[in-house]
Amino acid sequence: GETKETFCNNPIGFQFKVLHTDGRARYTNLTLPHYDCFTPMFMPVGTQGCVKGLTSMQLEEIECQVILGNTYHLGQRPGKDLFLECGGLHKFMSWKRGLLTDSGGFQMVSLADLSDVTEEGVTFQSPIDGKSEMLTPEKSMEIQNAIGADIIMALDDVVSSVKISKERFEEATHRTTRWIDRCIKGHKRPKEQALFGIVQGGLDDRLRDISLKGLLKRGKDLPGFAIGGLAGGEGKEDFCRVLESALPKLPFNKPRYVMGIGYPIDIVICTAFGGDMYDCVFPSRTARFGNALVPEGTLRLKQAQYKTDERKVQDDCDCVCCLNYTRKDLNKIAGKETEASIVLTYHNLRYLMRLCKQMREAIEKKTFKAFCVEFTKKLYSLEK
Ligand code: GUN
Ligand code: ZN
Repeated sequence: GETKETFCNNPIGFQFKVLHTDGRARYTNLTLPHYDCFTPMFMPVGTQGCVKGLTSMQLEEIECQVILGNTYHLGQRPGKDLFLECGGLHKFMSWKRGLLTDSGGFQMVSLADLSDVTEEGVTFQSPIDGKSEMLTPEKSMEIQNAIGADIIMALDDVVSSVKISKERFEEATHRTTRWIDRCIKGHKRPKEQALFGIVQGGLDDRLRDISLKGLLKRGKDLPGFAIGGLAGGEGKEDFCRVLESALPKLPFNKPRYVMGIGYPIDIVICTAFGGDMYDCVFPSRTARFGNALVPEGTLRLKQAQYKTDERKVQDDCDCVCCLNYTRKDLNKIAGKETEASIVLTYHNLRYLMRLCKQMREAIEKKTFKAFCVEFTKKLYSLEK
C-alpha cells in the first residue's frame, strides 16, 4: 500500500507517503508547507516559541525538522494579535522549517490544578494576570490559525491516566469526540494547516476504540492522527497494550503522532508499533539538569565519577558538545552554567535526531528488529 495521499486538497502544501516498512515500523515522507520531513521523527518542544538554549540556526545544524509550540503559552504571550500582525510564529521566531502547535488543553491540565473542564471548554486562571479565562475548541482553532503552524492539534479533554474515576474517563472520551466537530468547523485555514485529531480513552481498550472510531468517521477532515493520554506515568505494559491496539487501526496513509514521548527507549518502542512522530520536553529539560543521553543510558554529569573522566560525552557523536568538551569539563559546570545547558541540550537533541535517522535507515534496510535488539542491549549495559 505505498500510495501518495494529498492533504487538505492541496496538491503542493501537504503530502504523505510511506516509503518503506519493516514489520509495523514505517519510514515515511511527510511534506509540510514549510519543510519536507522524514519520519520517524522527534520534534523538540519550544513552549514559548523557541527551544530553550538553542537558536534556530543551531536547530537547523542538528537537522531538526519540526518544532512544537504551545497554543496555551503563545496565546497568553505574545498573544494572538501579535501573530496576526507579524504573520505568524515562523516569522516571529525566524524558523523556516516545520512547526506544530498543541491545542492548549493538555498544558493547562498539566500546569494548573485550577483548571475546570465543562462542555463549553477548559477554564483556567491566567498565570500572567490571574484572570479566569476559557479555552474552547473554537478559541483554540482561532489562536492556532493565527500562529500559523503547519500542523495544528484538536482540543481534547485530557485527564491524567492514573487516579481518575472511570466516569470521568468516559466523559472525557465522548467530549473529545464532540469537540473534534467544533474544531473541524472552527478551523479556517485547512489548505495551509493540517488538523490532527487525538485518540483519547485512557488505559481502557473499549474507550480507546470508541474514541478511535469517532475520529475515523471524521477522517476526511483529519489529515493526521495522534495518540494522547499516554506518557503520564502509566506502566509499560499498559503503555504498550494501548499502542499495540490503537496504532494499527489508524489509516496507513496518514501520519501517526504519539504525544509526549521523549525517552529514547519509548521512541524506539512506539516506532516498532507503527508510530511516526514524537515530542517531549524531557531531552532538553534533563540537559539543563546536567544529564546527557547516550546509547548506554543517561550520564548524570554532576556525579563525582565524571570529575576525572576525560572522554567525550559520546565517542561517535558529531555534535559541538562532543567535539569540544570532555565529561570532566562538563562535570565542573553541569547544572550551574548556561554554557553546560546549551551544549547538553545541543547534544541530547542531536542524539535523538540521529536515533531517528538510524531507525529510518534500519527500516529501509529491513533490519529494524536487529536494530532494536542492539539498541536495547547497549541501553541497559551501564546499569549492569
Ligand atoms: N501532550 C502529551 N499528551 C497529550 C495529550 O493527551 N493531549 C494533548 N493535547 N497534548 C498532549
Ligand atoms: Zn554529542
